[in-house]
Amino acid sequence: MNSFEELRLIAVEIAKNTLFAIPLLRVLRYRLLGSRSATEADSASRGNAAAYVALCEGLLMAGHEPREWLVSRRVLEIGPGAWLDLGLRVLALGAAEYWAIDRFADLAKRAAVEHYQQFLAEMPISQREKCEEVLVLGDSSVSFRGPIRYWPNTPIEACESLPRDYFDLIYSHAVLEHAFNLDQTFAAMSRLLRVGGLAIHIVDVSTHGQLAQMSGDSLAMLRYPDWLWHLMSSNRGYPNRKRPSEYLAMAQKHGLSVLVYKPRGVLDKAFVAKVKPRLNERFRQYSDEDLQPLSFVLICQKG
Ligand SMILES: C[S@@+](CC[C@H](N)C(=O)[O-])C[C@H]1O[C@@H](n2cnc3c(N)ncnc32)[C@H](O)[C@@H]1O
Repeated sequence: MNSFEELRLIAVEIAKNTLFAIPLLRVLRYRLLGSRSATEADSASRGNAAAYVALCEGLLMAGHEPREWLVSRRVLEIGPGAWLDLGLRVLALGAAEYWAIDRFADLAKRAAVEHYQQFLAEMPISQREKCEEVLVLGDSSVSFRGPIRYWPNTPIEACESLPRDYFDLIYSHAVLEHAFNLDQTFAAMSRLLRVGGLAIHIVDVSTHGQLAQMSGDSLAMLRYPDWLWHLMSSNRGYPNRKRPSEYLAMAQKHGLSVLVYKPRGVLDKAFVAKVKPRLNERFRQYSDEDLQPLSFVLICQKG
């Protein structure tokens, strides 16, 4: 990406971000203009399947067999996105309740009936029956009943109405990097978890979207000063640009002890050394260990 292309991309991102400040335009994007495209719906499905696998891996890392541990648990997922597959899976395995909270109302309505029909068809029969108890499939709409509770348009930073000291597990997959205030996010998790409860998060700290594709540099988002990044991203839930050490510090600050911190996908030190001179001055201060991870697993426990 040459300087001209980069400037053009920055201008486009600022324009999109400005338009996204108007709530009606978000609604238009997902509802009136035909909801999600098939490609988006497909990638959301893959994201959901990956989220479930990563949850099981996380529980194993914390020393728990998922099928045993999930029985009778109260689970809160932050940012499920288009589908509540993870909720159906944990309920099918015996969880008592599944709550989901998302900053945007992004359930893919149009493709939902087909999605859930296929989801059910692929489930083992014993688990399918449990899913059918909570999933209501109409001709063109899907709803949930019983132990599934969905709170759209609610950022984790502002979830005061959710019960305190209640959840056994708070889980997120590719979400916390979008949380606009990590201090409030970890404070909320600490408030919502019961003592001994687990928080398992898969955090993607690489550059997202077009900027990553065009630059071929997963640290490209760290090139810009905060004010410019704010103009490009503030209304769209883009990455908050926090590095792993900042998540670890927030967990500690809010009384969550870190059981596991494990980078997943790590950049070469030589690559980091090559791109570091292009980073904004603030990010050049970070250690290589903080810049190298593309994503990481964080597992905490409320003491
Ligand atoms: C990249 S998607 C990930 C979706 C899904 N977890 C997956 O792995 O496919 C990020 C999701 O987090 C939600 N989100 C972003 N910021 C959030 C916040 N502060 N609180 C709650 N949800 C948030 C977005 O609306 C979106 O649904």
